[in-house]
Amino acid sequence: MEIDVFTLFPDWFGWFTQQRHVRNAIAAGTRVECVNFREHTPLSAGQVDDTPFGGGAGMVLRVDVLDSALRARYGADPVGLREHRRVIALTPGGRVLDEELVGELADEPALTLLCGRYEGFDERILEHFVTDQISIGRYVLAGGELAAMVVCDTVLRKLPGALGHADSAVHESFSPALGGLPEYPHYTRPAEYRGWQVPEVLLSGHHARIAQWRTERSRERGSASDMPPAEDT
Ligand code: 6GU
Repeated sequence: MEIDVFTLFPDWFGWFTQQRHVRNAIAAGTRVECVNFREHTPLSAGQVDDTPFGGGAGMVLRVDVLDSALRARYGADPVGLREHRRVIALTPGGRVLDEELVGELADEPALTLLCGRYEGFDERILEHFVTDQISIGRYVLAGGELAAMVVCDTVLRKLPGALGHADSAVHESFSPALGGLPEYPHYTRPAEYRGWQVPEVLLSGHHARIAQWRTERSRERGSASDMPPAEDT
């Protein structure tokens, strides 16, 4: 997997790429690189954004700046890029990221993430250069960087070798193995603390009863939240 993040703040990703599971993914062959679109602006004075036509607050990322940055990175007209590469704009109004979308992205050989700032992207960027608009929830961040990190984090932990245990991503919340439900509760030692007991069944060594108990707890959690109904399996 190759991930290119286009941002005005590449430094932010230094912290992210130092984290254990990200380093593991990188050691296993994943590439995460930042491109600063300020370095590719065709405008003197390093300008990347401008005031909106028609008036209004904030600044809008310019389509000519994105065109040059993408062209500089990929060596071709970015209009054709999206035919062979997922080009994703991080934007609060986009498709909300969930495990299904994460799974889809994790199957791609390469991703391009575009981080907007201020009022976001000139609409022509979204129309001509982008395959997907993704949001991480219905609230507004100051920019797409944190959202891009969320996308990278969720995608990278799906890749082989990122997590310590090959299994840890299989039985986690919202996975097909759990019928799309949230995960069951976990307990570890001590078995009793301040009178708070670990459920007896988990100490029983009885694998079928444990599996049954976990399924029931997942279902309870699913119906207590705004999750879609459990698939019958
Ligand atoms: Cl992707 N960008 C911004 N600016 N705000 C957001 C978001 C993205 N997702 C949720 N809020």
